[in-house]
Amino acid sequence: MPKLSENFIEELRFRNPITEVVSSYVQLKRAGRLMKGLCPFHSEKTPSFVVYEENNSYYCFGCGAGGDVITFVRAIDNLDYMDAVRMLAQRCGMQVPEDGADKETARLRERILAINRETARFYYSCLGSPEGSAARRYVAGRKLSAETVRHFGIGYAPDDFNSLVSHLSSKGFTEKEMLEAGMKPTKRGSPYDQFRGRLIFPIIDVRGNVIAFGGRKLSEDKPGPKYLNSSDTPVFKKSHGVFALNFAKDVKNGTLILCEGYMDVIAMHQAGFCNAVATLGTAFTDEQARLLSRYAEEIILAFDADGPGQKAISRGIEILKKLDVRIRVLSIPGSKDPDEYIRENGADRFKALLDGASTQTDFRLNAIKNRHDLQTSEGKVEYIRECTLLLAEMSNAAEREVYASKAAEEAGVSRAALLTEAENARKKLGSARKKKEAARSASVLSGFGDTVNPEKKLNLRAANAEEALIAALVATPELAEEAAEYMPPEEFVTSFDRRLYEAVIDGIKTYGHFDIGMLGGDFSPAEIGKIQGFTLQNGRRAAGIDEIREYADIIREQKRRAGMPSVSEMDDEDFGKLIEEIARKKK
Ligand code: UTP
Ligand code: MN
Repeated sequence: MPKLSENFIEELRFRNPITEVVSSYVQLKRAGRLMKGLCPFHSEKTPSFVVYEENNSYYCFGCGAGGDVITFVRAIDNLDYMDAVRMLAQRCGMQVPEDGADKETARLRERILAINRETARFYYSCLGSPEGSAARRYVAGRKLSAETVRHFGIGYAPDDFNSLVSHLSSKGFTEKEMLEAGMKPTKRGSPYDQFRGRLIFPIIDVRGNVIAFGGRKLSEDKPGPKYLNSSDTPVFKKSHGVFALNFAKDVKNGTLILCEGYMDVIAMHQAGFCNAVATLGTAFTDEQARLLSRYAEEIILAFDADGPGQKAISRGIEILKKLDVRIRVLSIPGSKDPDEYIRENGADRFKALLDGASTQTDFRLNAIKNRHDLQTSEGKVEYIRECTLLLAEMSNAAEREVYASKAAEEAGVSRAALLTEAENARKKLGSARKKKEAARSASVLSGFGDTVNPEKKLNLRAANAEEALIAALVATPELAEEAAEYMPPEEFVTSFDRRLYEAVIDGIKTYGHFDIGMLGGDFSPAEIGKIQGFTLQNGRRAAGIDEIREYADIIREQKRRAGMPSVSEMDDEDFGKLIEEIARKKK
């Protein structure tokens, strides 16, 4: 594992945006959500080198080079890992920390999570105690049931600067730790409770950790903002956080409903819509979108329909469009939010609204119409031009026809003309790259020419299952423990995949998730490129434990067929030999 903390690496990457660094070596051109250029690692005439700004990585569909900004610098300047890190640190004026920072970070995370858990428990019990009576009245006024309060762990922060601090002290936490957990310091530097007097919503991640809190004031005429959120800590990034995803992720129908507020989500869950989630009072970000897309095939945007709400919807669509999810937009009559609507009209009416939620295309078509005056020919031309581009994005021909009809009718032109235009635009958009990618995947899938994992071509089926299993874990880190138990690394067939699998499990154990940045110096740029390639190929969709078991069973089955005894069937002597062999290969 790397000697550097993930925080450090993350900041290093943040301060060295990949497009900037790459641009000083390669001329990049924007192509939609990507940047493209001629690959600096092999010779080519048409660009197949792609930079993904959304996750700060690159991949060449021609030669399979890929990785993050650190990998790029290592490969292009032929530097070892630490030198590449130093180079980038210098470039952005950061200090490279001393060794040992890593364990420290993991320990700190654990302490903070323990504080958060204790804090949530404390607030919850305060809601039930005498000092929580006003908060209980508020909860009742908002029609939240006792069951809902329990389910979400809703609590109350006593209206006192100090009660939380003394409670945490009595549980053995230091003031320093409380500050690191995000409590605000007084002028004297001691922590105080910034949430005092508020109703508390714990924010829980998909692994069940309490990572932060949201707090609402009990009455509009109290001073201060209506809602307060924890600030960022080593365990929480507000711009990545999603409220209630810990519940919603288990809803198996593949749809998530994204709302604006805590109370909307809670009201929806109480009414039986357990797939509702919300952002935390910040604009919707790429990170949140990616997190959602791991659990959903479809996302319904349920934002307020007022002016700013419309903007938020457009922005949401722009962000989600980059990912492989269907998008629909819910419009609630009378500028109500979901919470108010459900309270006034009931769950059934809300269900009907949801079923009628329009597709993102309807929403966008409508937005284009509203932007242009169709009475003037100028407006009409612009309208048609934008509609053509919208149609060109659709890969489904039937869908194109449906929307072409709608647009044609609005503008008073023929549907056929619109479709022809759209077809032309489509051709321009993409055919060349698709062909290249297809050729590339074919050769990768057959294991031919795989120098990083030379065992692959002899064990094709096993290696493909190994890669799929690893990609599934990267997308579903919460299954790592279960997976490692079911499929110990020793059972892997190819040694490269085994080494990677170990690193991924290790990374997830330490940080809760995996990212190629954690591979640090233990993997070469070529190896990182390969990893980047197959995680891209296998997509980012979250997997279930059944899927992971299936891959594991394939690997074991292949191992048996290849005449390699599975570890559980080996006697001690053979097992010892195997371990030695693995150790040798590692060196
Ligand atoms: P809204 O103002 O729409 O409130 O904020 P709401 O969700 O309808 O809340 P209620 O029904 O009045 O209780 C939407 C979201 O924006 C964030 C919160 O996450 C809130 O849920 N917000 C709002 C803040 O972070 N700070 C604020 O002061 C207000
Ligand atoms: Mn509301």
